Amino acid sequence: MAHGNRAANLPPFILTTDFGVAFVHSFPNFAFMQSAKSLRCFFAITLSLVLSSTVFAADTNCPRERLLLDFGWKFHLGNEWGHTQNLAKAGSGSGPAGRSFGDASWRTVNLPHDWVVELPFDQEADGSHGFHPVGPGFPTNNVAWYRRTFDLPKEDANRRLWLEFDGVFRDCEVFVNGWFVGHHESGYNGFRYDITDVANVGGKNVVAVKVDASQFEGWFYEGAGIYRHVWLVKTAPLAIAPDGIFVHSKFENNVPEGKAEIHVEARLLNTLANATATTVRCEIVSPAGELAAKFKETETIKGGSQKAVKLAAKVASPVLWSPESPKLYKLITTVETDGKVVDRQETEFGIRTVAFHADKGFLLNGKPYVLKGTCNHQDHAGVGAALPDAVQYFRIAKLKEMGDNAYRTSHNPPTPELLDACDRLGMLVMDENRLLGSDEENLRRLEGQVRRDRNHPSVAIWSLANEEFATQSTPAGKHVAATMQDLVHHLDPTRPVTINADLGNQFSGVNEVIEVRGWSYHIGTSNMDAYHAAHPAQPNVGSEQGSTVGTRGIYTNDPARGYVSAYDVGATKWSNTAEDWWGFFAARPWLSGGFVWTGFDYRGEPTPYGWPCVNSHFGILDTCGFPKDNFWYYQAWWTKQPVLHLLPHWNWPDMQGKDVDVWCYANCQQVELFLNGQSLGRQTMTNYSHLHWPVKYAPGVLSAKGYTDGRLVSETKIETTGAPAAVQLAPDRSTLNADGEDVSVFTVAVTDAQGRVVPVATNLIHFDLSGPGKILGVGNGDPSCHEPDQFLPQVSSRSVPVNDGWRWKQLPDVRNQDLAEFKADFDDSSWDMAHPLSDSGPLEEQEQAVFRAKIQVSEQDLAAESVELCFGMVDEDGWVYVNGQYVGETHDWRVPAAFDVKSALHPGENTIAIGVANWNGAGGINKGVTLQFADKPAATAWSRSVFNGLAQIIVQSTKEPGEIKLTASADGLSPATVYVRSLPCTPRPAVP
Ligand code: GAL
Repeated sequence: MAHGNRAANLPPFILTTDFGVAFVHSFPNFAFMQSAKSLRCFFAITLSLVLSSTVFAADTNCPRERLLLDFGWKFHLGNEWGHTQNLAKAGSGSGPAGRSFGDASWRTVNLPHDWVVELPFDQEADGSHGFHPVGPGFPTNNVAWYRRTFDLPKEDANRRLWLEFDGVFRDCEVFVNGWFVGHHESGYNGFRYDITDVANVGGKNVVAVKVDASQFEGWFYEGAGIYRHVWLVKTAPLAIAPDGIFVHSKFENNVPEGKAEIHVEARLLNTLANATATTVRCEIVSPAGELAAKFKETETIKGGSQKAVKLAAKVASPVLWSPESPKLYKLITTVETDGKVVDRQETEFGIRTVAFHADKGFLLNGKPYVLKGTCNHQDHAGVGAALPDAVQYFRIAKLKEMGDNAYRTSHNPPTPELLDACDRLGMLVMDENRLLGSDEENLRRLEGQVRRDRNHPSVAIWSLANEEFATQSTPAGKHVAATMQDLVHHLDPTRPVTINADLGNQFSGVNEVIEVRGWSYHIGTSNMDAYHAAHPAQPNVGSEQGSTVGTRGIYTNDPARGYVSAYDVGATKWSNTAEDWWGFFAARPWLSGGFVWTGFDYRGEPTPYGWPCVNSHFGILDTCGFPKDNFWYYQAWWTKQPVLHLLPHWNWPDMQGKDVDVWCYANCQQVELFLNGQSLGRQTMTNYSHLHWPVKYAPGVLSAKGYTDGRLVSETKIETTGAPAAVQLAPDRSTLNADGEDVSVFTVAVTDAQGRVVPVATNLIHFDLSGPGKILGVGNGDPSCHEPDQFLPQVSSRSVPVNDGWRWKQLPDVRNQDLAEFKADFDDSSWDMAHPLSDSGPLEEQEQAVFRAKIQVSEQDLAAESVELCFGMVDEDGWVYVNGQYVGETHDWRVPAAFDVKSALHPGENTIAIGVANWNGAGGINKGVTLQFADKPAATAWSRSVFNGLAQIIVQSTKEPGEIKLTASADGLSPATVYVRSLPCTPRPAVP
C-alpha cells in the first residue's frame, strides 16, 4: 500500500524495538524509539492542572493520537495451528495469524488479561509460580492467541502508525493483516512496532498475537498473556520519536536552591525524504496550572533520520516533588514545520534531586531522607498479573498508609501505570531491570526501560538486577555490571545505580563497580559495618531486607494447613524479622533505609511450606491488601501518626484461663493494657520494638491506652465477638468512571450481630451483580485457598458436519471475486460430486476449481452467538463465499481454516462456494467441513469464602453509566447490598 508521504528511498529504519535501542558502540544511532508518555487524566485524584490562558491551547488538529487498544480482543488458549508464520512467503501468516481467520467463537476479553489466574490449582504444577498448571509440563496451557480487528480511517494515510505493548508475558509473535511484524521475548519490557507499511488505511485491520509462556523468567508468579495495556499511536511523518522526550531538572551542587535549570531533549524522527526545518516549542506548566517557562529551538532534521533537539530554560521558585508533596509539572512540547503544528505531546515531570551519600545515606532534595520501602511483585488477588490502573493506585495508597515511601519493582521493569501512580500519589521507586547481561538484547531492553521511565519523578534509582548468585562475585559479573551502569548513566545523568547483591562483606565482583552498594539481607556488624569501614566512600542501600513470614489473623504455625504465625517471629534463615532489620537500619543512617521483602503477599514462593500453600507469606499486607499485624509495626515507626495496635484477636474459646501472648505495636512512650477493665500493667516502649504481656484469657474486651509525656495520646480495644450473623460490603470508592476500566475494590466482611468483624469466620459468600459493571475477580488473602479467583463464562457449542452434496468444477482461474460460480443462484447441477472427507485431491498440480454445497440453517441456529464455517484442509489457496458474499481466504494447507459466517447466513437454504487454487501435488478441500455454533455465554455465579473474616471482590465499570448493585449473601447470614454509581466521563481515547 502506498502512503503519500513515505519516501521511496529512505534508509532502513528499525521497525521493531523494545522501548529503546542499545547504545552499544557498534550500533548506529538508531535510538529513536521512544514512548509518548502523555497525560492520562482519568483519575480525578491525580490531576488538577487547569491551564491558564497564557498556555497554548491544545491543537486539536495535531496528528498525534494515542489510542488505547484494550477492548474487545478475541482470546483462545491453545495453539492447534503449529507454526503460523510462513517463512517462505511474506504477509501470508496462516491460522489465527492470517487476516481472515474466523475467531468469532473465541472468548472476548478486555486487556489487561492474564490467563493463568483463570486456571485451577494443581499440586503437580510449579509451586514457586503458585501451583497453576502452566510452564514446563503443561504444554496445552502455555500458548494462547489474541486477535483484534479494527478499522483505520483513510485520514491515516499520511501518518505513521505504531503498535505499542506495555508488556506481554511472554515470547510473543505479532502479526498485522497476516504480516509478521515482530517477535518479542521478554515478559516485562515494553515494545512497539511501526506498522505503517502493512496497515490497511481506510479499511479493516487485524492484529494477531501469539503468546508463549512455556518458559518462566522468574521464580514467582508471572501470569501469562497480554497483561498490560496495548496502544495504537499515530503521528505525522515528522514527529517526536517514540519515548523521544527527556526532561529533567538540575541545580548547582544537586541541591534545590534558587532557580531550577530544566533540560529538555526532544528526539525527532523525520521519515520524510527531505530535510525539514523544524521548530520545537516547550512550555512548562506549574503544579498550579500556570505557565512557568516557554522556550524554543529551531533545527533542520535531515530526511530519513532522527535527531535530538536540546533545549533548556530556568524555572524560578520551583515547587519540589517529594512523596509527601507529589507536585507535578507538565511539559508541553510542540513541533512545527512550515508554521504548522505537526506534533504535540504532554509529559508530566517533577522537579527534585536525588543522591546517595556514603555517610548521610539517601538525599532527597538535598536532605537526608530515609527510604522506608517495600519490594513488590506485580500480582494482586482476583486479577493475577493483569492489574487495572485503579488497582495500582489502590496498592500504592495502601503502602503509603503504612508509611512506606519507596517501592522496588522486583525483579523486573514495571508497567508504566504503576510509575504514574507513584508520581501522582508520592512514592519513590527503585526501578529494576530483569537480568544482569551486557549482551545486545539485554542492553537493548535496559535502554528501553530507562528511556521509557526516566521522566518519572518517582524513579529515584535504577537497579541492574537481583541476586545474580552465579555471577555477582566474579570478574565477568563486575564487567557486565559496569557496562550496564555506563549505559544507564549515559541515558540518565540524574539518577544513581545499584544492584541487589546477595553478598555480605564482599567487595569483589559487582560491588567493586556499582555506584550504590545494594544489600540483600546480610545485616549485622560483621557484614554491613565491616564493609562500610572498608569502603567508606561507597554509598549503601538496603535493597532487600526484613522478610517475616506470617499469615493474616493466624497466631500459631500450622504446617498442615500452611499457615504461619503473624507474630513478628518467623523470619527465614536468610532474613530477619521486621524488628531486627529496622532496628539495625534505623541506627545507621548511612544505610539509607531499605526495602522490605515484601509489601504485599504474592502468588508463588509459599515459603516456608509447599502445597497446600499457593502464595507467599512475606507480605506486610496479604494478596488483597488486608494488613497483617506487622503493618502496624511499620506504621508505628515509619509515620508520625499515633499508632496503638494489639494482637492477637480476642476469640479464643479454647484458651479459657490459659496464657495468651498479647503484643502491642505503638509509637508512644508507655502503654497500659486492660482486660475487661482491669489493668494488666503499664510498660515503657523501646524505639523500634514492641511490648508484650502474657494474659490469662477470658472473653471480653482487651484494651490499651498509650501515653507520651504522661498524656493519654491513643486508645484501642479488641473484643471477643459473637457468632457470624451478617455479611458487610464496603467499596473503596462509591463512584466510578464509566470508562470500562475503572474499578472499585470491595471489602467483604462477616460480622457478628453487633457489626464486629468475626476474626475466625470462614463463611462462603455468594455474589450477585447487576447494572453496568462486571466482577473482575475475588480473593481472600488465604495462602492455602484453592477456590477460583475468577469464574469464567461457560459457553456451549456444537459442530454440524457439512460433507454431503458438494460439487466441483475446474476453472482456469478462481482468483476473481466476480465469478458467476461463486453466486448463490448459480446452477451447479451438472458438476461432479466432491468428497471433502478425503485426505487429498481431487485437484492436480497447477489446477484450480470451485467447490459448492448447499446447507440448511434454522432461525434457531442463527440465534447462536457465533457461527463458523470450518475446513479441515484447503489445499492450497482458498477464497470462501457464502450466498455469494466473500467471507475470507486461506493460504496455508497445513492448518484448518475457519470463517465467521453468521452475518452471511439466513434461515433456510444457503450456498457455500470456495475457489481453490492448487499449485503443488494434489489439492482441494479435504479432512471435512463443519459448521460450528457457539451459544451465548451463560451467566456465571461468583463466590468466595472469607478468610479470618475478610474477602475482596473487584468490580469494574462498563462504558455505560448507571448504578451497579452488588449483593453478598451467605447461608444463615443476613446479606449485604451496596450500590456504586458509575458516572459519565470522557474515557481516554480508544480504538473503536
Ligand atoms: C530473595 C529473592 C526474592 C525472594 C526472596 C524470598 O533472596 O531476591 O526474589 O525469592 O528471596 O525470601
